[in-house]
Amino acid sequence: PLGLEREVESMLRLHVSGRSIHGADLSNKFSGLTLEGNVASKSSNTKLPELPTRKSIVLEQIRRRRSLQLREKQQTWQESSEGQKMLEFRRSLPAYKEKDALLKAVAENQVVVVSGETGCGKTTQLPQYILESEIVAARGATCSIICTQPRRISAMSVSERVAAERGESLGESVGYKVRLEGMKGRDTRLLFCTTGILLRRLLLDRDLNGVTHVIVDEIHERGMNEDFLLIVLKDLLPRRPDLRLILMSATLNAELFSNYFGRAPTFHIPGFTYPVRAHFLENFLEMTGYRLTEYNQIDDYGQNKLWKMQKQAAMRKRKSQIASSVEDALEKADFQEYSPRVRESLSHWNPDSVGFNLIEHVLHHIVMKERLGAVLVFMTGWDDINSLKDQLQSHPVLGDPSKVLLLACHGSMASSEQRLIFDKPEDGVRKIVLATNMAETSITINDVVFVVDCGKAKETSYDALNNTPCLLPSWISKAAARQRRGRAGRVQSGECYHLYPRCVHDSFSDYQLPELLRTPLQSLCLQIKSLQLGSITEFLSRALQPPEPLSVQNAVEYLKIIGAFDEHENLTVLGRHLAMLPVEPKLGKMLIYGAIFNCLDPIMTVVAGLSVRDPFVMPLDKKELAESAKAEFSGNGYSDHLVLVRAYEGWREAESQRGGYEYCWRNYLSAQTMRAIDSLRKQFYSLLKETGLVSCSDKNVSSWAHDEYLVRSIICAGLFPGVCSVVNKSRSVSLKTMEDGRVLLYSNSVNGAAPKIPYPWLVFNEKVKVNSVFLRDSTGISDSTLLLFGGDMATGGLDGHLKMLGGYLEFFMKPSLAKIYLTIRRELGDLIQAK
Ligand code: CDP
Ligand code: MG
Repeated sequence: PLGLEREVESMLRLHVSGRSIHGADLSNKFSGLTLEGNVASKSSNTKLPELPTRKSIVLEQIRRRRSLQLREKQQTWQESSEGQKMLEFRRSLPAYKEKDALLKAVAENQVVVVSGETGCGKTTQLPQYILESEIVAARGATCSIICTQPRRISAMSVSERVAAERGESLGESVGYKVRLEGMKGRDTRLLFCTTGILLRRLLLDRDLNGVTHVIVDEIHERGMNEDFLLIVLKDLLPRRPDLRLILMSATLNAELFSNYFGRAPTFHIPGFTYPVRAHFLENFLEMTGYRLTEYNQIDDYGQNKLWKMQKQAAMRKRKSQIASSVEDALEKADFQEYSPRVRESLSHWNPDSVGFNLIEHVLHHIVMKERLGAVLVFMTGWDDINSLKDQLQSHPVLGDPSKVLLLACHGSMASSEQRLIFDKPEDGVRKIVLATNMAETSITINDVVFVVDCGKAKETSYDALNNTPCLLPSWISKAAARQRRGRAGRVQSGECYHLYPRCVHDSFSDYQLPELLRTPLQSLCLQIKSLQLGSITEFLSRALQPPEPLSVQNAVEYLKIIGAFDEHENLTVLGRHLAMLPVEPKLGKMLIYGAIFNCLDPIMTVVAGLSVRDPFVMPLDKKELAESAKAEFSGNGYSDHLVLVRAYEGWREAESQRGGYEYCWRNYLSAQTMRAIDSLRKQFYSLLKETGLVSCSDKNVSSWAHDEYLVRSIICAGLFPGVCSVVNKSRSVSLKTMEDGRVLLYSNSVNGAAPKIPYPWLVFNEKVKVNSVFLRDSTGISDSTLLLFGGDMATGGLDGHLKMLGGYLEFFMKPSLAKIYLTIRRELGDLIQAK
């Protein structure tokens, strides 16, 4: 570690100068030697062969001293009364009994797979056991343990917990690092980080020099980053025979991972959880007499038209294939053992809806009738968490802050907000946490006694044939349902309300499909290339479960079009920069162009808006008012992205005078989303500074140039090839893309209702295939913008770039574009000839 090196240098400097004072004859030999430099490496010139050994002796001394200090500090802590209590708690965890066996297994094998029920102490204890055993072996100052987490929030909360268990503050022996945030000190030996951070470190340091243990946590989730990391680590292990790899998982399918690593030994920690009683929908209806009606299920997604359409599509899809097992199960089940009332009620159950009213009723039942204990509600995503929260807040009991503390828990929340969910509420107040599936395994909310499970999770699925990602709530797996249920049995026996019939549960698949098989692979392909891992196809074929070749091909094709790859699949300069930015390539490209063209301020807003969610709220009963408020921002600009920029800038202005909330209320904006955008912008700015794309002297972001034409061009640079042609008909606008033909605009778009669009093209961020293809946010651009900013000129030179655009041109047959195109080509031809 650099800090240690520096310390050694300075100590050596003392030694050297000490000697030169006492041994007068040596002083001549040192003339010309700059003591600031690396003394050891220059020692041969100065004929002092003993210096390197001296360096290593000093190094060893310092390490020993540090290890001893670490050990002494722990001892003092463990002898204190608080430390005693903590130790007692730690010893009560199931992992403790296995401590010695675990350490032995880790010492004897390069790879070990550890499984054990959530809460048994894998994440907080195992890394500590390793740390402690290294300290005892006086290697405390040289070990470096990295434990990856799939999510920011778990990396942060776990490191905090482990530091507390050791009576330290964060950044001493335990630290964390997540994107753009971290707490890590000179003596940090155990680092919790997101998987993405470790992948980025691999970019700079392919052999993970200095790292002694890598622990990959939550591998059962099969996130894309984790699957990717496993391939890289598998390659690394033979090069680093001293490196230890430990894989941890909450479920029992450890075999799969063990086989992947040449039958690595598996280790199961027998867990203890209190029993949890499962109530399925029919049990709940029987127990409470609650009746489901048609009405119950109707307007959950009513706020959002797109959702409704997606829902319909999902229904259709269900009829055809995926959820047909649920349908079958429902058809076969007769619920004979239940009362006619329950049977009648179940006939109204809509498997495509999450059923807010039902959830509200279950929560009301728990708050009124059940014993004390926090409630954890599993929802599908941010939008429905928010809508449900709104609905519950207007409930007479659930919305009463003296009775209920209502909290949301979602990955893109600010970290300060996330911490609230771990706190104990005041006496007499019941904590209800609305969470996504991230609360399934990686974070532990201690006091949960009741779990409400809607049975779904929003899952990106990717249709390689249409090259269109879809984000739909889909049924979870049996493993996930079991995890959710288990969350109720942590401190005492608990209750779990599954809001679907038992027969539906029985039709779930055992495990979820790995992310690598259901998402676009663009970012991954960039990473593979920037880590110089060879052929993308060959590399991915070595994955635990390799993705379809067509998905790989689509991703590579896309990266070529945007100019991140040249035609031989090598990274271009743009590609290298994109790989350094942990955002989607198209957003990264916008940021890079924004930095180059000096209009980062609006561009960061656009990118933040695209990465968060739509800040405009459309309450059903005030839809017209909301729409006209949004139209105010449009200024006939024909751009949803610029609408967002204006809305944000207004908010920033208002917020500076403490009027942000009122501003949002007046303009039908979500204050929370605005704050999220604001904080993301700050993150982007630090990110760009970190990668050197903006210099530290450019402090004042807000005073940067803001030229609307330029901003449109940069949006185009990022969103291309997401482009459709505009043809104004007498009464409507007809839109076409190359792949889909006729497309429609989502009605929330400012362009959606426009009778005419005075731009020949729209660039769009996202298309969603429902019954037709719908475009989400769009921005009008001119011919010349498309020519100059669509695709990337760097790849095949201007000529190649124009040729590629020519393909689009031919397809759309726009005479105006053709004219400019030909002019540019001719001029280019002249230019080449002149040369
Ligand atoms: O990783 P695994 O699910 O096996 O368990 P863990 O996260 O290491 O948690 C072990 C125990 O530590 C849990 O049962 C909790 O009681 C406790 N814990 C806590 O009190 N606060 C945290 N932030 C995390 C864990
Ligand atoms: Mg864990």
